[in-house]
Amino acid sequence: MVNLTINGKQVAVEKDATIYDAAKACGIKIPILCHDKKLHPFGGCRMCLVEVEQMKGRLIPACTTPVTEGMIVQTTTDEIVKARKLVLELLLLKHPIDCPVCDAAGDCDLQNLTYEYKVNMNRFVDEKFNHEIDYENPLIERDMNRCIHCGKCARICDEIVSYGAYTFINRGIEAKMGTEFDGPLNCEFCGSCVSVCPVGALNSRPFKFKARWWALQKTKSVCSYCGTGCQLTLGTKDGKVLTTIYDENQGFHNGQLCTRGRFGYQFVNSDKRLTAPLIRKNGKLQEATWEEALAEVTSRLAAGKSDPASVAALATPRLTNEELFLFGKLFRGTVGTDNIDHSAGYAHEALTKGAVASFGVAASPAEIADVQKSNLLLVVKSDAYETHPVIGFEINLGVKRKGIALRIVSDKKGKLTRLPGAKTTVHAPGNEVALFNALCKSVIDQGLAVEGVAGLDALKAAVADATAEKAGVSAEEIAAIAKEFASAEKALIILPIGQGYPGHNAALANAAANLAILTGQVGKEGAGLLIMGEKNNSQGAVDMGIYPKGTGLNAAAIIDGCANGNVKTLFVAGENPVVSYPNRAKVEKALENVEFMVVSDLFLTETAALADVVLPACSFAEKSGTFTSLGRRVQNVRKAIPAIGLAKSDFEILNAISQALGGARYNNQGEVFTEIAASVPAYKGLTQAGLKDEGAVYPVALAAKLVPAAAKAAAPAAGKLALVTGSALYHCGTMSRFGEGPMYVCPDAYAELNVADAAALKVEEGDQVTVTSGTGAVQVVAKVGKRVPQGVVFSPYHFGEGSVNTITDGAEVTYVSVAKK
Ligand code: SF4
Ligand code: SF4
Ligand code: SF4
Ligand code: FES
Repeated sequence: MVNLTINGKQVAVEKDATIYDAAKACGIKIPILCHDKKLHPFGGCRMCLVEVEQMKGRLIPACTTPVTEGMIVQTTTDEIVKARKLVLELLLLKHPIDCPVCDAAGDCDLQNLTYEYKVNMNRFVDEKFNHEIDYENPLIERDMNRCIHCGKCARICDEIVSYGAYTFINRGIEAKMGTEFDGPLNCEFCGSCVSVCPVGALNSRPFKFKARWWALQKTKSVCSYCGTGCQLTLGTKDGKVLTTIYDENQGFHNGQLCTRGRFGYQFVNSDKRLTAPLIRKNGKLQEATWEEALAEVTSRLAAGKSDPASVAALATPRLTNEELFLFGKLFRGTVGTDNIDHSAGYAHEALTKGAVASFGVAASPAEIADVQKSNLLLVVKSDAYETHPVIGFEINLGVKRKGIALRIVSDKKGKLTRLPGAKTTVHAPGNEVALFNALCKSVIDQGLAVEGVAGLDALKAAVADATAEKAGVSAEEIAAIAKEFASAEKALIILPIGQGYPGHNAALANAAANLAILTGQVGKEGAGLLIMGEKNNSQGAVDMGIYPKGTGLNAAAIIDGCANGNVKTLFVAGENPVVSYPNRAKVEKALENVEFMVVSDLFLTETAALADVVLPACSFAEKSGTFTSLGRRVQNVRKAIPAIGLAKSDFEILNAISQALGGARYNNQGEVFTEIAASVPAYKGLTQAGLKDEGAVYPVALAAKLVPAAAKAAAPAAGKLALVTGSALYHCGTMSRFGEGPMYVCPDAYAELNVADAAALKVEEGDQVTVTSGTGAVQVVAKVGKRVPQGVVFSPYHFGEGSVNTITDGAEVTYVSVAKK
């Protein structure tokens, strides 16, 4: 520790602290403009000038000056105040001072400091900037006339987002924060630069002229897209979510969000929201009252109680824990059916079967904090960045700032593969289990396996003939990864799961877990296996038991049951199987065939359009409860606006049905959480109040065991391309289609081809192509690049038009032909 004195106060801080950090630690405020705790120090604005006695009273920047023992610092002498006023005068000299029409007014550091330092006149005169304002995209407005050259946008885009969209261009008075060739901004639109801009130079366009900062009501909640569980603050007014507000102290991610969290909130107030119940009459869905709709649903479920096997229920893992718990209790308990599932099974079997077999718990042994504590990250699929972008930020930071080694095994390249020092092993689609088996074999052959692990003999026998060749990669690569992983002090495997990744199943979870267990990389921080659930409450859905536990039907069997008439009543809470389950034609036919289907959802989705009763449900912004993110963190979700139209939360819907059927009745969702804490062992002792703002990571007691995983022999089809599905960076499931941000950045389904394949097929970027499999054909836009290897075509699964599930049937890899339309 280092001891120093600031304004007469004694303070002791870590030796790598700056004067700014030390002042903050003892409650002394030093004004800043270019400094940000997340970013490398810049020292550009000089707003933080302080005086250090040992430096002969010179004024120095507090944000870049390290503390030294015995330092005596003054932060508010007359000379300092004079210097800061001068800084502000110079910054205001060319600034337009158009606060009346600037969206940042009230939340602008320049405005606030000008006010605080009473800079009500300027001794200097100069022409104002006359930069053209960038209105090219609908998400971020760039007005460089207001820019104060703090460099924060460039630093965050480079250091955390790893995109590098900005750089200073020109010199001296002509200097400007610019983009490539000074053109319009074209990037991944995460909005991180907007969040850190201290003035109104970078603005959120969807929020422009919607409300003054101080008029917004601010509610802390959790993003409802992916499983990362980023915390966010909703800015609301007059019953509408108008923006997400940046709070640098929120969450492990310091308030950073991806484009879905930052700009995807508009689905809440979409004019496509369902606002009243609908009942099918004479073949058409028509508006009805809640009483009519619920009477129809409850009478049908009451009849189903006498034949529970004929009732099935599918839920989205976007519901809160309380809603999912109630869902399970209603259908398992009151109705008596075990035909319950979510996410087509793809977003949970790695946990419910894989992790249970390997670790004895249906959860990841690792948590998010382990990413930056690791020495080596082994990421399965470059898509980990696309599926969970803010985990991608953590990986970026770990690799670039802490020098964490990054190894990627993937069927295509991606953003992660471009990080400094990253080594990517590209394998043939569907070979993941074979690859992990080969890694385990190599660990054993190199004498790197820890002895005495449960299941070692069985694993040795199972991987005896696992070769690099079978995994489709070189023996050298397998040997090198195995050695590096086993030799690293702390090595962590990152495995995304979800509906786009049917191959990321129980077997792959076992195969990956085997490598971690075999090398002793389990049970210590910064190591192990992080299974990343796709949706905001994927882990919670598992914890609440939303999957068949006994002889019940899983999602695929439920669809079959609808088709063959064994399932007569289907309750769908928020799922959209028509677009997200494999084999769209088969799903549609099955859902048209089922006698009675009720769907609760925010929108009249492709699935809801086939229902007999549609119940308008509330979004996350209209209800309270909890979500459990990947890495086992349970967090509070807070109601920010009243329900849209006549929508009800799924808690209210399920509670009403349960009560009508003679089941439990709860006065509020908090009572359900109390019951969860009493009946779900992992949640024991938790309370919603006790979760506070930061949430709580529930503990797991691991019983690690090696579990042989059978690799399926990939059988490439001659003359066909291997179709791999997955997530586009800007989407999550099918809900992001209703968010303005994701839809601007990625509006349509597409098929991504390698340049060589595209050339052979005479396909160019932007062409319409027909992709045909044994299941069907779909027409989408072609993308051409080097990200996917030759022989592979990638297509994301989020879209209703040109939906990729038209041509997939649940296989890990589908072989297709592609032709220009
Ligand atoms: S929106 Fe994100 S990717 Fe785009 S420039 Fe800003 S920080 Fe970079
Ligand atoms: S645009 Fe904003 S964040 Fe970027 S340099 Fe200018 S003032 Fe700073
Ligand atoms: S979508 Fe995921 S990564 Fe993006 S802000 Fe939401 S929780 Fe975070
Ligand atoms: S905040 Fe220290 S120089 Fe800008």
